[in-house]
Amino acid sequence: MFRRLSSCHNIEDLRALAKQRLPGPIFHYIDGAADDEITCRRNTAAFDDCDLVPNVLVGPEKVDMSVTVMGQKLAMPLFCSPTALQRLFHHDGERAVARAAEKYGTMFGVSSLGTVSLAEIGAMTSTPKMFQFYFHKDRSLNAAMLARAKQAKFDVLALTVDTTTGGNRERDLRTGFTTPPRLTLRSLLSFAVHPAWSLNYFARGGFELAELKEHAREGSDIAMSVSEYFSNLLDESLNWSDAEALRAQWPGPFCLKGVMSVEDAKRAIDIGADGVMVSNHGGRQLDGSRAPFDQIAEIVDAVGDRIDVILDGGVRRGTHVLKALAAGAKACSGGRMYLYALAAAGQPGVERVLGNLRAEIERGMKLMGVRRVSDLNRSMLRYR
Ligand code: FNR
Ligand code: LAC
Repeated sequence: MFRRLSSCHNIEDLRALAKQRLPGPIFHYIDGAADDEITCRRNTAAFDDCDLVPNVLVGPEKVDMSVTVMGQKLAMPLFCSPTALQRLFHHDGERAVARAAEKYGTMFGVSSLGTVSLAEIGAMTSTPKMFQFYFHKDRSLNAAMLARAKQAKFDVLALTVDTTTGGNRERDLRTGFTTPPRLTLRSLLSFAVHPAWSLNYFARGGFELAELKEHAREGSDIAMSVSEYFSNLLDESLNWSDAEALRAQWPGPFCLKGVMSVEDAKRAIDIGADGVMVSNHGGRQLDGSRAPFDQIAEIVDAVGDRIDVILDGGVRRGTHVLKALAAGAKACSGGRMYLYALAAAGQPGVERVLGNLRAEIERGMKLMGVRRVSDLNRSMLRYR
């Protein structure tokens, strides 16, 4: 069945459209995860083990969905996590995501493996922006990226702490996914049956890793897998004193992305972080690790009054966001939810998914009988 954007009513529909449009290796890079992908599935399934208990007859005609997280005021309690290689998925890449996020008044993250420069993104948007930092062995690359993020006036710096080695992404091994795409006989066949994507990718050209290109060969045209990038270029010995030193060099809000334990959340406070993104990288790194929603209450109970706790991963519905907020998260973030939409239809796709999720959150708050996000609390949740 061939789909169009106008017939996509939820994220699963957008995923199907993305699958139809993208060459196989690229779709599976987005959709896939580590090992048996158990953690990836659990990230979403965890929400189904908890039910919402609404209150009635409180007439919330208007609801206020805004939240303040790490000092950033967002019009909705969900933002776009930083993700790599966006111009591979759609030729507008980060530009499309930035404009759509701006339209909905929410934050978006740009990855160290971004494909549009921080300077360009900084100049084109007024909404809060997060820069996601990968800590490389090459200290001059780290310093240059940090300087460019400051210069482009990014608001929040997120240090990703769950990628000191590459996750075992077996779909990528099977498809031979590399960036930029390596032209083998099999990949050529895959491009040939996705002519619209291929035409755009090759005609619009200029694919590059904007912040890496002057420092690493991988920013040019040497094909390399993501796992090789993590293992060869990132610093496997990254530790708490490195994180503390990085925090000291960033003047604005700082968070750690990929914290899962209470102990680590406490240490994040000690090094001066403003937030923790409770995340397992969308199940793409350590399979068998706990899902953010299963872990969120424990972390909120321990540190929620001292640091902003963000639930990252698994979100596919507005009610997932409501459950996370009721459990105590300050906000949620997600990757695939908007990446399927980007791949399916560029900026209009990302606008559609953010618009749908916003409407789902608004409808859910009305049906729950709450006027503002801070009215959501644990008394409205029952774990099965
Ligand atoms: C990611 N993620 C990610 N995280 C990060 O810190 N830097 C990065 O460059 C990327 N790149 C990336 C690419 C793709 C294709 C995906 C799917 C994910 C992880 C991302 O920020 C987020 O943690 C997960 O996507 C959350 O899980 P969901 O929302 O996809 O279920
Ligand atoms: C990923 C990276 C790049 O998950 O963070 O593929």
